[in-house]
Amino acid sequence: MIPTLAWTPDGVRFIDQTKLPLEESYVLATTYEDVAHVIVTMVVRGAPAIGVSAAYGVALGALRTKAATAREFAPEFETICTRLAGTRPTAVNLFWAIDRMKHRFASLLADDASIAMVQEKFLAEAHRMYEEDITACKTMGAFGGALLPSEGGVLTHCNAGALATCGYGTALGVIRSAVEQGKKIRVFADETRPFLQGARLTAWELMEDGIDTTVICDNMAASLMRAGRIQAVVVGADRIAANGDFANKIGTYNVAILAKEHGIPFYVAAPWSTIDMATPNGDAIPIEERNPIEVTHHGGKQLTPHGVGICNPAFDVTPARYVTAIITERGVLQAPFAESLKKMESSVQTA
Ligand code: MRU
Repeated sequence: MIPTLAWTPDGVRFIDQTKLPLEESYVLATTYEDVAHVIVTMVVRGAPAIGVSAAYGVALGALRTKAATAREFAPEFETICTRLAGTRPTAVNLFWAIDRMKHRFASLLADDASIAMVQEKFLAEAHRMYEEDITACKTMGAFGGALLPSEGGVLTHCNAGALATCGYGTALGVIRSAVEQGKKIRVFADETRPFLQGARLTAWELMEDGIDTTVICDNMAASLMRAGRIQAVVVGADRIAANGDFANKIGTYNVAILAKEHGIPFYVAAPWSTIDMATPNGDAIPIEERNPIEVTHHGGKQLTPHGVGICNPAFDVTPARYVTAIITERGVLQAPFAESLKKMESSVQTA
């Protein structure tokens, strides 16, 4: 399996996604600050992978502290959580993971547990999230794989694969599962300007698995759809609001509009940790604005004239009306999503 991140006796080892596909190198994070740095610099990226990384970051914070008890550690714990939560604003999985660690810490604090106990419980919780993420990807893969045609072209945008999760992937998990079911799928990967997650990462990991993959520039999708070469679209998400609007990599909204125009089903695959019932709709999702240099330069070379205005939002919001189905590990949701999401959430809460 592709080693997005792995716990080692010295810390968390990340495959460096800024170097792929030309170089397979690794970065070792030994402190929570290191973890924050790898998230900010995109060594690790993708909503579920960011969440689990942050959980390991909190565990590393506890492992490196000089505090002797949970109570002594409490102010430092707040600093660690604030630092990790400040790395990237859009993917809700980051806040979901930190909240889970906060919940775990609350009971340790109530017992004024020893720091050894805090370390043990934090690490166990991070490991649990890691395992749960892989299981969720496999489950949604099975649900979503069944929705794809037995033969045809499937377009994906950005990288919602093994590299964006702890393994297998969300959107790419759906594709992997369809291929494992014997379906003849040809993947079209949008290159995904400006960070090129599609051209670099999706193409790399699908080729590693021997899946038929073709990279296209972002502006080619309409033409391929019109030519009948794309039978389905499947993408991931960084945050799904309570009404089904969702944020994903910039350019996803374009693809959704094109799919609707051409009568092509448009699927969103995401674990439940990406669903944010506290955010009513897409307008309330914070969108990260990234450094203009990602647009002005490529491979260290300047592309644009000095001083030109640059806009670089990392994500966009696709309204729920463009979504055919949301694939989660709890099941496949259909419109109206405000109702189906609420129903699915309460059925799990009462189960
Ligand atoms: O900026 P990135 O590379 O972190 O953006 C990633 C995406 O937009 C993914 O599609 C999303 O996180 C889903 S990953 C399973």
